[in-house]
Parts: sequence; structure tokens; C-alpha cells
Amino acid sequence: MKIVITGAGGQLGKELIQLFKEEGYVVFPYTKQQLDITNRTKIKEMIEKIQPDYLINTAAFTQVDLCETDIDQAYLINGIGPYYLACEAKENKVKFFHISTDYVFDGEKIEPYIEENYPDPQTIYGKSKLLGEELALTANDSTTIIRSSWLYGHEGKNFVNTIKKLAGNSQEIRVVHDQYGCPTYTKDLGIAINKLLTRPHGIYHVTNSGSCSWFEFATEIVTFLNSQTVVIPVSTEEYGLKTPRPMYSVLSQKKLNSNGIFLRNWKEGLHEYLKKEDDENGH
Ligand SMILES: NC(=O)c1ccc[n+]([C@@H]2O[C@H](COP(=O)([O-])OP(=O)(O)OC[C@H]3O[C@@H](n4cnc5c(N)ncnc54)[C@H](OP(=O)(O)O)[C@@H]3O)[C@@H](O)[C@H]2O)c1
Repeated sequence: MKIVITGAGGQLGKELIQLFKEEGYVVFPYTKQQLDITNRTKIKEMIEKIQPDYLINTAAFTQVDLCETDIDQAYLINGIGPYYLACEAKENKVKFFHISTDYVFDGEKIEPYIEENYPDPQTIYGKSKLLGEELALTANDSTTIIRSSWLYGHEGKNFVNTIKKLAGNSQEIRVVHDQYGCPTYTKDLGIAINKLLTRPHGIYHVTNSGSCSWFEFATEIVTFLNSQTVVIPVSTEEYGLKTPRPMYSVLSQKKLNSNGIFLRNWKEGLHEYLKKEDDENGH
């Protein structure tokens, strides 16, 4: 089985390359330099040449603050890119999987979002990602959309790695206590994506199970590292973020579970991640 992964230089892309190779797939990874997903001609040439069984798009413009000022790029990469991929996948009878985000929701709910909930993104990033979902589904009705949240992976620029660095260098760190979501280890998301390859197409919410605030997440990291750094809870208002984040973006696992796919609790995933990082650094 042949799999193409776009956005292969990103944290999820890197994880998927390794995971699918281990699973015995023939993997064709494409970084941004090797394939720009906004270039339809190049996408077409690549798919016709490789004739993969699956195409997984992890490429995206993920810098939430930058999306607010570079709006054209956000819509182009997160909206039009997935549309081109979906069209060319359909043309060549390739199963298309596209990664999306909890940011498509407004964050006003107080219980986990299900796939049928009405999306109402509050940021350009969220709006552009929703556009990508809609265009991909319209262009190719056998598309699968996988929405995840609060991702961290080895070598990625993410919350866990930021807190790890700060925990080594700062006496205290201020972390938002009133935004809730679910941290998700890219490895666990990858395992679920592999299983979804053989499930019915559609929209799926895929995160580790359970939920927490950013403050609880940071505290768990600092505690695991045995660091003396003090984590101080602050409100979103006090913290003063440039671009609003969803206050509550926990994604329900019900549909995933009813398809026989279960992800472990976020704390278990986090502990394995931190341990692996530690082992790799030779501690
Ligand atoms: N990170 C999260 O917390 C999170 C949460 C929920 C969902 N997601 C979704 O999960 C997916 C993977 O995210 P991630 O955390 O792995 O992001 P990432 O580390 O930023 O990876 C995205 C990759 O896409 C590349 N890219 C950007 N524009 C491109 C283009 N025009 N053509 C081809 N590649 C392009 C980026 O390259 P450059 O870096 O060189 O621009 C980067 O290597 C994305 O769809 C994201 O929206 C992420």
C-alpha cells in the first residue's frame, strides 16, 4: 500500500512518516519545499506519477497569530490547498484524509463538541481551516476530515516543548487556567489515523481522552520533570493573548469509539512522550 504525506516537514507529518513505515506502508513524504499544496499542477503530476492508495494532508499554515495578518496565505494554504488535493485525489481514485482542528468551533460550549455541532470559528486560522474542510468535502465526497487539538510531537514547536524549556530556565511561568481542551500526542493521533484508513469516510474527532486547562497541562509537565519552576495560573484576560483562542474545545470521542477506536488518556500519552524525550537526550 502506498501513502503520500503532504506537510511532511511538520510535527505530525514527521510522526506519520515513521509510523506508516513501521506499519509496512510504502511512504512518499512531501515537505513544503518538495510539494507546495497550493500548486495544483504539481499535485496532479505527483499523484499521477505515484498512484498512491492514500493521500494524507498534514500541511497547513498553523501560526494562529500570523494568520490574522497574512489572511490571503491562510485561506490559500488552509482552504484552497486541501481543495486541490481533494480534487486530484478524486480524479485518481485515491482516498483522501485531511487534518483539521478544534478551532473550527467557537469554544462557547461546556460539553465536548460532536462532529455534527455547528462550526463557528472566531479566528482567521479557524475560518480558513473550516473552508478547507468544506471545499474538500464538496469536491470529493469520500474525503475524511480528522479534527484534532493541542498537538505535540517530537521536534515540533509546541506547548510541551516550550514548557520544557522554560522549566529548565525560569523560576515561574504564567499559564492560562480558564481555557480547556485535550492535549494530543502525535503518535496517538497517528495510530488512530492508521485505523481510520479502513473506516467509513466522514468527519471524525480524534484526540487523546480526558481534558484539562493549559495550566493543568503545564503543571503535569513540570511535575513529571521534577522541576522547581512554579506554575502560576492566570486568566485569559490577564494573559492578554493577541488572537482569541476557544475557551472550551474538548472534542467528543463518541463517534471514534463507536468505530472501535480508543485513545488513551492525555496524561498517559504525555508521560510516554516526556520519557522518550528524556531517553533520547541521554538522561
Ligand atoms: N499544532 C496543533 O496544536 C494542531 C491542533 C489541531 C489541529 N492541527 C492540524 O494538524 C495538522 C498538522 O499540524 P502540525 O502541528 O504538524 O503543524 P506544523 O508543524 O506547522 O506542520 C505543518 C507543515 O505544513 C507545511 N506547509 C505550510 N504551507 C505549506 C504549503 N503551502 N504546502 C506544503 N506544506 C506547507 C509547513 O511548512 P513550514 O513550517 O515551512 O511553513 C509545516 O512543515 C494541521 O492541519 C493543523 O491545522 C494542529
